[in-house]
Parts: sequence; C-alpha cells; structure tokens
Amino acid sequence: MSTQVPKQTDESSENATDAETTVPSKGDARREEKRRRAAERREERQAEEAERAAAAEDTVELKVFRYDPEVEGKQEPRFDTFHVPFEKGMTVLDALMYSRDTYDSSLTFRHSCRQAICGSDAMFVNGTQHLACKTQISELSEPIRVEPLPHAEVTKDLVVDMEHFYDQMHAVEPYFQTNELPDGELDEQRQTRENREKVKMSTRCIWCAACMSSCNIAAGDNEYLGPAAINKAYRFAMDEREGEEIKQKRLEIIEQEHGVWRCQTQFSCTVVCPKDIPLTEHIQELKREAVKSNLKFW
Ligand code: SF4
Ligand code: FES
Repeated sequence: MSTQVPKQTDESSENATDAETTVPSKGDARREEKRRRAAERREERQAEEAERAAAAEDTVELKVFRYDPEVEGKQEPRFDTFHVPFEKGMTVLDALMYSRDTYDSSLTFRHSCRQAICGSDAMFVNGTQHLACKTQISELSEPIRVEPLPHAEVTKDLVVDMEHFYDQMHAVEPYFQTNELPDGELDEQRQTRENREKVKMSTRCIWCAACMSSCNIAAGDNEYLGPAAINKAYRFAMDEREGEEIKQKRLEIIEQEHGVWRCQTQFSCTVVCPKDIPLTEHIQELKREAVKSNLKFW
C-alpha cells in the first residue's frame, strides 16, 4: 500500500531563484546547505514512517481536505492521503493527530478536550457532521474523507470561521435573566424537578455548530438564527425562573422573520447533534409558544 506524503513548499527551491541574481555569501551558502540537509532528513523520516504504516497489519486510509490561502501552492483546495496504523478505540481525531505529528506538521484542525465537551472539532466526515473526538474509526468506511464543516468559510485545512455562528448564538441573549427574584435577599432561586427535566437536554449544547452546518435553511438564509441559537432560546424561555415578562421578550426574538418560522422540520440538525438534543422538537415547541402568546380573546 503506498502512502502519499503531502508535498510541502520547498523554501530552498523558492530561494534559488533569488540566489541566481545575487552572489550568496559564505554564511548564506552554509545556511542553505543546512536547510537542504534538514529537508532531506525530514523527507527520509516521513518516508520511513510511511513505510512502517503501510507495512503495519492494519492501517486506515484518510483523505483530508487541505487549503491554505496564505501559502503559495496550497491555495488550490485538494485532498491529501494519509495511512495511519489502526488501534482499537481510535477516533478520527486520533488519526488526524497521528497524521499531523508523523507526516505533515502544517495539517491544521481545532481540538481541545478530546471528550466531546469543548465542541471545537466538529467536521464533515464521510459526508456527515461529526465531532472528530467522538467518532470511532471502526465505524467508518474507507477511505475516510475528512472535510471542514460545510456552509462556513474555510480559514485553513479543517478550520472554519465560527464568527457568524457565534453572532447568531449571541442574538438570542444566551444567559439567564429575570425580573422575578425571591423576596429574601439570600434566597436561592429554586427550579422544580419537572422544569429541570424539561430544559435538561437543551442545556447540553457545546456550541460545535454541527447542526447549523447541516441545515439547508441556514445554508440559504444567512440571517436565519439556526437550530443551536433557537435551542439556546428554548433553554431560557422554558426556564420557569425567568418569569413571564422575559419569556415574552425571548419569544419576540425567535418569532422574527429569520427565526423559528424558517424551520421546515427537516430534522437534519437533530440527526447530527453529538449531544442528542431534540432540536427540531424544541423549535416546534417554540413555534407553538409563539402562536399561543399572540392569541387574542375578545
Ligand atoms: S445543538 Fe448540538 S449540534 Fe448544535 S451546536 Fe449545540 S451541540 Fe452542536
Ligand atoms: S476535542 Fe472537544 S469536543 Fe472534540
């Protein structure tokens, strides 16, 4: 099995053009020679590692999206192939880290907690949004295709710009507010067990943006609040401790033109959410709440 090691921009050959026009000093020549030898050693190491991986009994083939607008030669999007020795329990994130550490240190992706908590490594794996750290290699068919989240601007390789997603989240004021504080100065603001159960799933969001990326409506309407933001609004609008006045304000935010009514109940967000939040259900419930709040009885 052959392993393609991603080509890197060879600085020494780029510099060679300049060197033809100017006479290099002894120091320059020495530095150039050092660079050349380091590049050779690096290539040898990569080739050895690639051979080892290919010879290993069980390897997985990864096809990883590559793009870097700041490096000449990487501005044209492409896929690089990496062969990674398989280990039981290996996740897509493990395989990416192996590829980066072994073959190409410029391979760029976000990750932090490695346990489905920080939400930083949502990616498009074999055509579906996944958290890389929660996705077992053994459950995927090969070659495993790893791409950045669709419907977001790619910053570099697997990293996308999250600004728009965060803007939508902040638009629903994702923090607790109330005008109904208990009488005593130090009294705890209690929530009933039933109410806690009602909002429990909605509190699990880790801001990974997988749902937003999967949503056709969000893809066509940049102003649509999106499933994650509406779920966040649900989390607070349904919390009995906020009180009726604040709930009304929240309903006004989510029933605007680009709010809940844009949802066409396609369930794509619910399917991809790594925290199993019933997003579509929450959106439908908020639609009902919005209708109820606008009913007038004469
Ligand atoms: S609702 Fe689910 S998919 Fe969407 S951002 Fe939150 S955790 Fe991620
Ligand atoms: S690394 Fe934190 S959610 Fe995957």
